[in-house]
Amino acid sequence: MFESPLYTHFVSHYAQPTGPDLLGRTEPFFAWQDARRQAGLWPYSRSLDAAPRAACAVRGETGAGAVGLNFLSQDYLSLSTHPRVVEAAHRALRDHGLHSAGSAMLGGNTAPSLVLEDALAEALHMPHVALFSTGWGAGFATITALVRPGDHVVMDTLAHACLQAGAAAATRNVVRFRHLDNEAVRRHLRKIRSRDAQNAILVVTEGLFSMDSDVPAIEELQGICREWGATLLVDAAHDFGAMGPRGTGSVGAQAMLGKVDLVMGAFSKTFGSNGGFLATHSPAVRQFVRVFGGPHIFSNALSPLQAAVVTESLRIVRSAEGDELRERLFENIGTLRGELHRRGIETLGAPSPVVPVAIGGAPVARVAARMIFDHGVFVNLVEYPAVPLRGSRFRMQVMADHSREQARAAAAVVAEAIHDARALVEGPHAFAVPFAGLQQTAA
Ligand SMILES: Cc1ncc(COP(=O)(O)O)c(C=O)c1O
Repeated sequence: MFESPLYTHFVSHYAQPTGPDLLGRTEPFFAWQDARRQAGLWPYSRSLDAAPRAACAVRGETGAGAVGLNFLSQDYLSLSTHPRVVEAAHRALRDHGLHSAGSAMLGGNTAPSLVLEDALAEALHMPHVALFSTGWGAGFATITALVRPGDHVVMDTLAHACLQAGAAAATRNVVRFRHLDNEAVRRHLRKIRSRDAQNAILVVTEGLFSMDSDVPAIEELQGICREWGATLLVDAAHDFGAMGPRGTGSVGAQAMLGKVDLVMGAFSKTFGSNGGFLATHSPAVRQFVRVFGGPHIFSNALSPLQAAVVTESLRIVRSAEGDELRERLFENIGTLRGELHRRGIETLGAPSPVVPVAIGGAPVARVAARMIFDHGVFVNLVEYPAVPLRGSRFRMQVMADHSREQARAAAAVVAEAIHDARALVEGPHAFAVPFAGLQQTAA
């Protein structure tokens, strides 16, 4: 019922309850979810008892807690607990209070948010920056503000939900190209342009795809867009700050700093806060997206505390200390990936702060997730529909403050749990698995 083989790009399409009782029809999902929860097989919606440090205490939705190694937080450079960032938060609290007290259009901008806009513009070599209170809002607003119903969106099939939702809200003319396939983009653009020279085309990709840990060839993609009169948007949510020279992300690593049409991102990964941005070369585009992208007007602005935290994080990101943090981060990533491989476990993609650990079927993944938690290692489980059917994976998120020893220890626990879960679920005694009723049902 909840695992239809139909893989759509919207999580809301995943469950298809029917009938007139709008609220009551949520019950079957709840019963299914609660059975998993009570069996300890619902590894979502956990809470951390304290800051997202390398070792921490984590609590599941049933209240069951454990203390262990934290590989589920996306605080890649460990900046949310950096003394200078914490001090910046205290200063902002003292000087500007907690609240932005309005949308950015209606009095919600603050002295720290103006400073942040300038700092981002300088870091990205793009002079005009619009801020949003979430990265999700930045993606949705950018696409819905710029794209009109007659226009076209050509997007990587794995582009983030905020980009998919923005495209769907803006136009019916959305085509998805095979992940990272620039030649497919070229074919789509040629086809669209052969019949429509009047409307605009937006091509959408990410600087780092977090589910697969891989990166597009941005220079080539920007060239293809220019050739066919299309505009390129790169969502740098995961790579900006954590990768590339001085934290400039994949755009910087590919010598494209300041050369991409539109760059957006989120502060929720490397910058110790919530929020997002769009950077552009055009003051007109900035104003247009602020006024016609809903989240900038109709959602309260980033708080001064968040803006100050991001600005201080950005200072560190761009400094020699930022280089050291990235070096430590990538040493940990190398250790984790190497140790997993040595133990016969496949990781996807290229080294990045997200290490996707391939599992396959959901039953093995769910049982292994429980075992890993019980052994005091915290990782994210990603299942269909966030990834394709039988594409279940663990998403281990690495931080600069992990030690190599912690990376090795986590790899050992994860590898052993996957081997044990495979034996339990797929081995000769698989009938003994107590959670058979929760196994993936789609063929
Ligand atoms: C590529 C991408 N874009 C946008 C977002 C949304 O960012 P936020 O969580 O800050 O709203 C995310 C977050 O998961 C993301 O991965």
